[in-house]
Amino acid sequence: MYNFDKPVRRENTACVKYDLREPYFGKADVLPMWVADMDFETPDFVRKAVEERAKHPVYGYSVRTDDYYRSVVDWVKRRHNWDIEREWVVYTPGIVPALNFSVTSFTRPGDAVLVQPPVYFPFFSAIANHGRKQTDNPLLLNGRSYSIDFDDFEKKARQASMFFLCSPHNPVGKCFTPDELLRMGELCLENNVLVVSDEIHNDLILPGFSHSPMAALSDDLAENTISCIAPSKTFNLAGLSTSTVIIKNEELRNKFAKALNGPHLGKGNLFGAVASQAAYTFGDDWVDELMQYVHNNFQLLERFLQAEIPVLSVTKAESTYMAWIEFRKTGLTDDEIKEKLIHEAGLGLSAGTLFGKGGEGFQRMNLAAPKSVVRDALERLKAAFR
Ligand SMILES: Cc1ncc(COP(=O)(O)O)c(C=O)c1O
Repeated sequence: MYNFDKPVRRENTACVKYDLREPYFGKADVLPMWVADMDFETPDFVRKAVEERAKHPVYGYSVRTDDYYRSVVDWVKRRHNWDIEREWVVYTPGIVPALNFSVTSFTRPGDAVLVQPPVYFPFFSAIANHGRKQTDNPLLLNGRSYSIDFDDFEKKARQASMFFLCSPHNPVGKCFTPDELLRMGELCLENNVLVVSDEIHNDLILPGFSHSPMAALSDDLAENTISCIAPSKTFNLAGLSTSTVIIKNEELRNKFAKALNGPHLGKGNLFGAVASQAAYTFGDDWVDELMQYVHNNFQLLERFLQAEIPVLSVTKAESTYMAWIEFRKTGLTDDEIKEKLIHEAGLGLSAGTLFGKGGEGFQRMNLAAPKSVVRDALERLKAAFR
């Protein structure tokens, strides 16, 4: 029903992915497959809602309505089988702000925050920005998939006061199983470690896999988890700065909301609220079709690498639209890989080294693009790395 093959020109729309290529890659014409937004149109039912509201001639201070909250609560129930209450839903302008406010609200300078690299790198700055210490529980690479080193997790949990969980995991694309989540969650409870569960990719699940919200697994975990979700990745509306934090524990929720409301960050964004409500109300079929399309792009990539560039391989994809590609067998250094990608292939990818320990020799490629673009990218890779 939806056309994901349609190319969209995004140059000169003040967008990071296209308009910052020159400063970021030193080359303005690389094929950009880096920043995590999509080269697909934001769905028509979202644009229509925004356009309707834009017709009203006043864009003054706004509130989020009952219908807005209901759309969040119903989406979480429908898509994730998790019963939440309206009161638990707290607005945040983004998930990275929520990570930072969680650190300042619930930890003290010098406290340790546990992370699982290679992981979304703003996790690191949300810790360092506030004088907290990062403690790593690196994911273990087994062939083309990743697992958790639980002995190490337990050891690190004893030293930490907060855990930044990335679930599903960016960049490795892992959907943690309920057993894995329970085990991590219980180790956090035993050691008084508050869980901040970044579930921004929760809707982007590839066929055959499923996502379990950490806080839905038990009452104790619900009380000990700050859950972060958003329509931004799912519906391509990151520019509208409208995300959600779900906090059941009233004391934690009040503290978090106070931190945001103090500097008037809790007011929100008029068009973001309208877009979010439309997305969560009408978006089911669109997301299902999107993930089928992304799945086909993953298959295209996997088959192409096997047949044409066997020196490269891609981690088994379970979620997200990010392919985590291993370049280690090329024997090249990270600098050499980057140089070849930019100057020989003309491709703008995200270097694995950004994501911390274990990212060496990897590159992240954004597959949320028409398959013609993915094919073009693969031919460029082949020309440079065959
Ligand atoms: C795991 C994860 N968290 C957060 C974000 C960004 O969050 P926001 O733009 O809402 O601050 C991203 C974007 O790629 C992400 O992958």
